[in-house]
Amino acid sequence: MEFTELNQARHSVRDFADRPVDPQLLRQIVIEAQQAPSWVNSQPWKVYIATGKHLEEIKQVFVEKDAVKEKSSSELATMPRSDWGGDAPAHMKEWGHDIVNHFDNYDQAHQTMTGLMEHLNHTPAIAYVTIPTSSPEWAIFDAGSFAQTLMLAAKDKGVDSIPTYNSVRFPRPIKRILGIPSSEKLVIGIELGYASDAKVNSFRAPRIAVDEMLTILD
Ligand SMILES: Cc1cc2nc3c(=O)[nH]c(=O)nc-3n(C[C@H](O)[C@H](O)[C@H](O)COP(=O)(O)O)c2cc1C
Repeated sequence: MEFTELNQARHSVRDFADRPVDPQLLRQIVIEAQQAPSWVNSQPWKVYIATGKHLEEIKQVFVEKDAVKEKSSSELATMPRSDWGGDAPAHMKEWGHDIVNHFDNYDQAHQTMTGLMEHLNHTPAIAYVTIPTSSPEWAIFDAGSFAQTLMLAAKDKGVDSIPTYNSVRFPRPIKRILGIPSSEKLVIGIELGYASDAKVNSFRAPRIAVDEMLTILD
């Protein structure tokens, strides 16, 4: 796919069809993601792709923990949306309204999103990206660039994706199930698969006008 078309085609998919992704294809996607730039070519990332029974075990943990409303938290610190600086809180608020409005009513939106969260969007594969626990903030930048390259490489091969906080919000059982050592920190889970025809997948997150965020100085 030509780049502009590929870049437009990638969007977050929140419900996946019941169809596995070929492990060889997953491997090829990761090889392409390795072209991402990193600080002094440090390549701080590692990737653990959960499929099959390992992913089923993770999904089961999510269902059980959500059933008892267990408090969750990722290994990267979060911040209340209202404390973020700049225009980010307003953009997040707008996104919330937009996605609810995409459905017929609030209850339908709420039920869909909650159900998908618990079941990890029915994804057949999650690529968990880690960096060493002992890392500068720059390694998170590197992991982000790796993740975006991975998602574009996936889309180029017809594989849809979504990066999610949701998939890393119970780090301890995830790391136990996947054998991730404590010397590594879970950054993000990238859910991979093929989009179902669920309504949620026709949602597109709008972008702000470029002049609201761009300054070119000569
Ligand atoms: C770090 C990160 C975490 C995210 N976590 C979630 C999540 O937990 N649940 C979700 O539905 N979307 C999640 N998203 C997807 C964003 O909502 C999405 O990227 C954004 O709305 C822009 O839409 P697009 O990816 O379709 O272009 C996350 C995205 C990023 C970059």
